[in-house]
This record gives sequence, C-alpha cells and structure tokens, in this order.
Amino acid sequence: MTYLGDIWYQAGWPEEIDEGRMLARTILGRPLLFFRDADGRPAAVLDRCPHRFAPLSAGKYADGVVTCGYHGLAFDGAGRCAHNPHGKATGAIRVESFAAAERHQVLWVWMGDAALADPDRIPDLSFIDQTPPTAVIKGLMPTNAEYRLLIDNIMDLSHADYLHPTTLGGTFTDAKMTVLHDGDSITVEYSSIDCEPAPALRVMVPPPLRADVRVDARWHPPGVMVIGVSAHPTGTPPNPAADNFTLHSMTPETASSTHYFYCSTRPFQTDDVELSRSLKAILEQAFAAEDKPMLEKQQQRIGDADFWSLKPLLLPVDSGAVQVRRKLEALIEAQQADPPHQAARQA
Ligand code: FES
Ligand SMILES: [Fe+2]
Repeated sequence: MTYLGDIWYQAGWPEEIDEGRMLARTILGRPLLFFRDADGRPAAVLDRCPHRFAPLSAGKYADGVVTCGYHGLAFDGAGRCAHNPHGKATGAIRVESFAAAERHQVLWVWMGDAALADPDRIPDLSFIDQTPPTAVIKGLMPTNAEYRLLIDNIMDLSHADYLHPTTLGGTFTDAKMTVLHDGDSITVEYSSIDCEPAPALRVMVPPPLRADVRVDARWHPPGVMVIGVSAHPTGTPPNPAADNFTLHSMTPETASSTHYFYCSTRPFQTDDVELSRSLKAILEQAFAAEDKPMLEKQQQRIGDADFWSLKPLLLPVDSGAVQVRRKLEALIEAQQADPPHQAARQA
C-alpha cells in the first residue's frame, strides 16, 4: 500500500511517553519508538537497532536516550549515537529518526522528509485545548481493517441508523446531506429539521421535544476527522455554545489494520467525572460491539483486493467518502510525482 508521506499522522497521546516511558507503535507498517528527548520534546526513531536489528524498545530509556538491550549502543531523539561501549560514538552510527510533535494534546509523527515537517500543518484541534480535562475522553480502538474503511465509516454516517439504532442512529438516512471542500479538507454536513433526536442526543433535547440536528464530519488528510454535533429543540434558536466535537483519527498500522484514536469533548457538565466515565464506556461499547466487528468482517470480505477493482455500488450517501478517497489518491500521486518529497511510503 502507498501512503501519504509528507504529512502528520497521529501517533498516540503525549501522556503515553510521560514519566520516562517509551512507546513502541507500528505506523504505516514501520515499527517506531517514541520517547522524550533530553529537553522533554517528543522524539521518534525506527524501533530497530542498526547493529543487529534488535528492537530498541527491548532496551532501556533514561534521560532522553535509548540504550539497546542487546549490545549497549545508545541513541538520542535525533537518532544519533549517544554512547558506544565498543568504540567511538561516530556520526556514522545512526538509527533512522522521524519528526515528532505534541499539539492539541495529541502526539504526532511526520512519516516523510523530516526537513519538511511543519507543525503549522497539524490540523486545528483547539477544541480539545478549550475543554476542561475532566470533560476530555480519549482512547484508542485497534481495528483489523485498513484505514480508508474507517474513514468511509465516518464520512458516511448513514450507517449509524442501521448499526447504532439505540444510540446515535435514526436521522442520517433522511437528512439533507451536503459535501463541502475547503483546501484539502472535505466536510459532509447532515441537517435534519424537526426530527426525533437520536437517543444519544436526548441530553441536549429531552423527550418529547422534536429537534433540529446538524452533524458535520470534517476530514483532514490523511485520516484526521472531527465530528461536530449541534442539536436544539425545534422552534428554538441554535445554541453554538452547546455544540460538541469529537476527534476520530485513523492512523494506518499496516495495510490491513488501523490505530483508531478518539477524543470526545463536551461543553456541558464539564466537571462531571462520572459522566465522562460512563460516556467513555458507551463510546467504546458502541465501537467494540458495532463498528469494529462490521469493519473487520468487511476487511475480510475485501481481502487484499483493490477497493475499486471490486466495483463498489455507489449510493448518494457515499459521495463524501468517495470524494475523500479521490482526494487522498490525488495527494499521494502528487507526492510521488514530486521527487524532492520522495514521500509516499510503501509498507
Ligand atoms: S543489536 Fe543493538 S547494539 Fe547490537
Ligand atoms: Fe459507527
């Protein structure tokens, strides 16, 4: 599979490398190791010692340096040899390194040319920073399906009416759907006026009231998505202060598996830790019991075949997802055709 290289992927959460911890995680088929450098900044190197290819994650981390557990070579966050117990620590002894960053409480990695890594190209997820920590719910849901199937799943929310009827579903199939482009980003907007709100929206619009609901799913390449939900009783003005946003971030682990990170935020009952706990359980349960099994079965049916070679039937609800797939293909082709970027990676 060919991926977009010169772009930021979510690698995890910054707290996964706090308190002297290393984080080993495969991204785009490459085993990576994340840790904090001597200045506390996130760093990423290939999790494979250049000597005899032992995983560096099987060694030790201290003071910004990782020491291989096999023969003791040590490397800093830039991949330079910090110590060689068998001779000089020369510049020739290196492990491949990657640009890493921490922004909006997310850990990012740039899988292409580190010299081109610009933190200002990280999508704006400031809604996370604006939410009190007690109302931020974060998690990771590993899924054995390729990342574009997970992106399709968010871009086509009509699936919620069938897969999540007791929580999120009910209004998407009949909603007015609009697809909007903004630079390289694509948004699908679902608008339902005077509808019966989905069970999960009853905290915003209690029964028996009818609701006006707007749900936006916004995709940033390669797989960073934000769903915004606005719901208010029909006949009352919208209340933007009550809108809530959730990050759904799809990072390819391999060609057939995905790290699905999510981060839910809310502007109401922000200090209710118990509510956060129960929302996390509901979210993970809906995903683990409903989305994940379907996505993994879908992947099994597709196998190694190219998606388009199977001639998928296209319905009107697919238009956002199809436009995202086309945009992603165009961005990958553009990087491949632009040699300084040499970016698209095979794995
Ligand atoms: S394999 Fe790492 S030092 Fe030998
Ligand atoms: Fe779903």
